[in-house]
Amino acid sequence: MRTRLGRRQIIRVVVMRSLLHTTNSSSPPPGSSRKQQHCGSRCFVVSLLLVLLALVASDVYLSFPNRRRVLPLFPQQLLSRRQQRGGEGGCDIFRGEWVPDPDAPYYTNDTCKVIHEHYDCMGYGKPDLGFVNWRWQPDGCDLPRFNPWRFLHMMRGKTLAFVGDSLGRNHKDSLICLLTTVAEPTTSWPSSKHTVYYYADYNFTVAHFWAPYLVRHEQIDEDGPAHTGVWNLYLDEPDGVWAAHVAEFDYAVVSASSWFYRPSMLYEAGRLVGCHYCRLPNVTDLTLRYALRMATRAALRALSGADGRFRGTALLRTVDPSQYEGGEWNKDGNCVRTAPFRRGQNAVQGLEREFRTLQLEEFASAEKAATDGGGKVRMLLMDTTEAMILRADAHPSKYRGWTPEKHFTLHNDCVHWCLPGAIDTWNDMLLHMLK
Ligand SMILES: *[C@@H]1O[C@H](CO)[C@@H](O)[C@H](O)[C@H]1NC(C)=O
Ligand SMILES: *[C@@H]1O[C@H](CO)[C@@H](O)[C@H](O)[C@H]1NC(C)=O
Ligand SMILES: *[C@@H]1O[C@H](CO)[C@@H](O)[C@H](O)[C@H]1NC(C)=O
Repeated sequence: MRTRLGRRQIIRVVVMRSLLHTTNSSSPPPGSSRKQQHCGSRCFVVSLLLVLLALVASDVYLSFPNRRRVLPLFPQQLLSRRQQRGGEGGCDIFRGEWVPDPDAPYYTNDTCKVIHEHYDCMGYGKPDLGFVNWRWQPDGCDLPRFNPWRFLHMMRGKTLAFVGDSLGRNHKDSLICLLTTVAEPTTSWPSSKHTVYYYADYNFTVAHFWAPYLVRHEQIDEDGPAHTGVWNLYLDEPDGVWAAHVAEFDYAVVSASSWFYRPSMLYEAGRLVGCHYCRLPNVTDLTLRYALRMATRAALRALSGADGRFRGTALLRTVDPSQYEGGEWNKDGNCVRTAPFRRGQNAVQGLEREFRTLQLEEFASAEKAATDGGGKVRMLLMDTTEAMILRADAHPSKYRGWTPEKHFTLHNDCVHWCLPGAIDTWNDMLLHMLK
């Protein structure tokens, strides 16, 4: 553990310092053109996110250089409640394998206008587009591909919110793209952290909230012990960016984990209770697991219906694995596979595995509380981790746009997901879970 922490710190010192010194952290409201949307504060936060995710990957993958090694899968006792796992009639849609889908893709970089440059792999010339021709086949039942007509019909008069970091945006962009064959939304930005897509013909709203920690947070130091900044996290205060709006949501898809790697001071009831990697002798290090657990708990509590505001369906999406192979994330580590892993050839490891376990635990207790509270709210676990660990072929690698930085070059992105691509399946799952 000592040596791993040391290595992580060294990488952060070198990379994060240059990143922080060459980007502007202010938050201008996004403009309406595509170019503008892609830059400014979003470039900065996405850059940070990517670096932090990559740091995790470097830790995990440097520790496990042999990627074919298979570790035991997930704790079985947490997986036994099949009815909550997106299944109707006992089918667990999150266990299965990837099978060929010659009909994919269902949109392209030319037909969908919202694909962020960070994962526009077609537009940036990814040479082998075979990664789009796969669909997820659950064991024991079929998961039909996303039907945009059916989805829009189901969503008439409803609001669907995505809450989280840039992987939540990746998911939202996939949904908007899948819907383009039927309808184009009008887009508005009530704030720099809140984007709204409105489908007038269906009176359907998709809202996206930038909330990388889910809870209220503020940066208190641009440097700190890891030179990545230090953040105050208010672990029992769901971020007002989204929490103020929960009464408007019919569906909320919550996901977060990647931002928790950076050093933070942890507050509960307004009082400092500890930190993650602050390296202060008088403050207990409660670890990033604790921070993610409590933030997840707070987010699910805001969606529990206990205060009578939210009355819809809350979905928690589990940790998304980053997948660098053959080296360090900021050097020669890359994702160059051209086909999915077969079942059992790869498994989530290290901290990501622990994150998933704690997400399942927090989901289980929130789900129980919602049921005990009268069942006004439905809670669903969107357990995509196991499917995605098999898709190291479906990341952008170097085939994506990247605003040049003076001292900072991220070579390969093995964190986000090409669109069109593997995470279009998340919307197959979403439709199946909500129907
Ligand atoms: C889409 O990608 C192709 C290459 O696959 C490229 O020629 C085309 O210009 C791209 N379109 C847009 C709108 O970026
Ligand atoms: C749109 O849906 C909302 C509920 O989300 C409803 O209050 C409103 O009346 C609907 N508007 C129209 C024009 O149907
Ligand atoms: C920890 O110690 C530093 C000085 O050594 C002090 O400034 C800080 O307030 C202390 N923090 C707490 C939580 O006691």
